[in-house]
Amino acid sequence: MYSQRKIFPLLGLFIFVFASSVDATEVGYKAHIKPIVDAKCIQCHGPDAPEYPEFKKDAEKFKERMKGPRMDSYTYLIFFVGWPDTGAIMRRLDDGKNTKDGKPGNMYEYLGSTDEERQKNLHLFKAWVGNWILKRWPEITKEELDGLKVKY
Ligand code: HEC
Repeated sequence: MYSQRKIFPLLGLFIFVFASSVDATEVGYKAHIKPIVDAKCIQCHGPDAPEYPEFKKDAEKFKERMKGPRMDSYTYLIFFVGWPDTGAIMRRLDDGKNTKDGKPGNMYEYLGSTDEERQKNLHLFKAWVGNWILKRWPEITKEELDGLKVKY
């Protein structure tokens, strides 16, 4: 017979292993998204890129210089997921499966140099966002917004 003394620590170990594997599948900004942004987006959306309202005022000028609006922190990035630029990340990064015209968003290509890498990184972005809706504000519903995860 197994004694309780032997079983309880073992049970504890199982719970610990199970709990940490569940935790590891939760996609977070620091662990998963920041490394992608740093590698793939920052050269055009980094500290030297304009604040969004500045960008909007003179978008053509910034486009010519290959600068998009600044997105180099958690706080900056979620502006383009939730509000006020609702769904921008989803519309630009989608691979064409959810867009109206079936074409990928124009930032999808930057997600990787191979289709495999782009799909892998898109998958992480989708898991991070939690509710991959391409709608803008105010078309998006309260329930759809509520499904956004964007964990830090
Ligand atoms: C080579 C430069 C470059 C790279 C790399 C790049 N972008 Fe962009 N991005 C731009 C420019 C320029 C614009 C503005 C022009 C436009 O709207 O297409 C833009 C626009 C955007 C927008 C729309 C912002 C708005 O006005 O609503 C999003 C979202 C975006 N980028 C996300 C990303 C993400 C995420 C990555 C990395 C996977 C990335 N971009 C990589 C240059 C780049």
